Amino acid sequence: MFSVNENFLLLNESYLFSTISKKVAQFTATHPDANIIRLGIGDVTQPLTPSVISAIHKAVDEMAVKETFRGYGPEQGYDFLLEAIAENDFKAFGIDISPSEIFVSDGAKSDVGNIVDILGRNNKVAVTDPVYPVYVDTNLMNLADRDQLIMLPCTAENDFLPQLPSEKVDVIYLCYPNNPTGTVMKKEELKRWVDYALENQSLILFDAAYEAYITEKDIPHSIYEIEGAQMCAIEFRSYSKNAGFTGVRCSYTVVPEALKVKSSNGIEIKLNRLWFRRQSTKFNGTAYIVQRAAEAIYSSEGKKEIRGLVDYYMENAKTIREALTQKGWTVFGGTNSPYIWLKCPNTDDSWQFFDQLLTECHIVGTPGQGFGACGEGFFRLTAFNTHEKTREAMERILAWNIG
Ligand code: MLT
Repeated sequence: MFSVNENFLLLNESYLFSTISKKVAQFTATHPDANIIRLGIGDVTQPLTPSVISAIHKAVDEMAVKETFRGYGPEQGYDFLLEAIAENDFKAFGIDISPSEIFVSDGAKSDVGNIVDILGRNNKVAVTDPVYPVYVDTNLMNLADRDQLIMLPCTAENDFLPQLPSEKVDVIYLCYPNNPTGTVMKKEELKRWVDYALENQSLILFDAAYEAYITEKDIPHSIYEIEGAQMCAIEFRSYSKNAGFTGVRCSYTVVPEALKVKSSNGIEIKLNRLWFRRQSTKFNGTAYIVQRAAEAIYSSEGKKEIRGLVDYYMENAKTIREALTQKGWTVFGGTNSPYIWLKCPNTDDSWQFFDQLLTECHIVGTPGQGFGACGEGFFRLTAFNTHEKTREAMERILAWNIG
């Protein structure tokens, strides 16, 4: 009889956001007239911007003509996009990342999950708690023993920032601005993690999917702003939240040439080579049309449009923060992030609060417990809905006579 990867049995029955959609679908089936406002999954609502749309049209036209038609592309991404990324996301900020260190892909979720393919199964892996569930689930799928997964508690008492691990860990996932708490790490704080990683020969997996939402100074947009990070960190970026590509699918991962490790027999290995090998074997590259769309956001018009999108959502974040504060609830995040993290006002059971908010206000959010044990008693709302719906949701909450 064949066997399966029984690590999958360690996972929750369903992925957090699938569980939520199922619950909402059940509610709407029995309450078809309910006007549900979704502030749950971080999915965008604003259309793609004009520069992106015209780049897509142009690329589609190219595909219709024999001379400009494209088949398989380079797995790592087309040079036009790799060069635009190196120039605009790094060189413009004084960071030296070359196109060969960048890998274009179909989403940060895929890359953050797939990266475990190139990592050993016996690593000790640290994740924050609460945490984006993909880091936990993909490690449970891969690690030899679930005890190798170490949770770093982030609580209101420590401003939702993790302490450096008390034991030596091999791999550390950091996501800043943070999903789900919306908190940020200042440069000085992130430097402590880079120093830790260099000293302990650990690898940092830095998820910077929300960097466009940083509004304050002294908060790094890239881990490579910290000296030495190219020797210990991989960075994940996404076009989902800044350019509204959640349905288009495009992201990239940076694996610096300087990132090296010794194999068990002492041979030096570059992680860049391993990731290239992994991607060229299991991935056929992001669609040409999509890469042209991503390139368009680096034009001067494209940059303005993207700024406009981020500002649009940040206005919602402000609306949410202000309304909840007026209601007397305790809120975190929402200043450098599209996520607002709040303390459940009447219960320590965040799923109970989820049900109450859904049934009494017809608003969908995400229970903190879904992000880990330390998330219990907290709740996440996103700023990605429209101005109108966000304001209406806040009016409902302000008028809510919460039992
Ligand atoms: C979230 O709501 O946490 C995100 O939308 C999930 C994701 O980006 O995959």
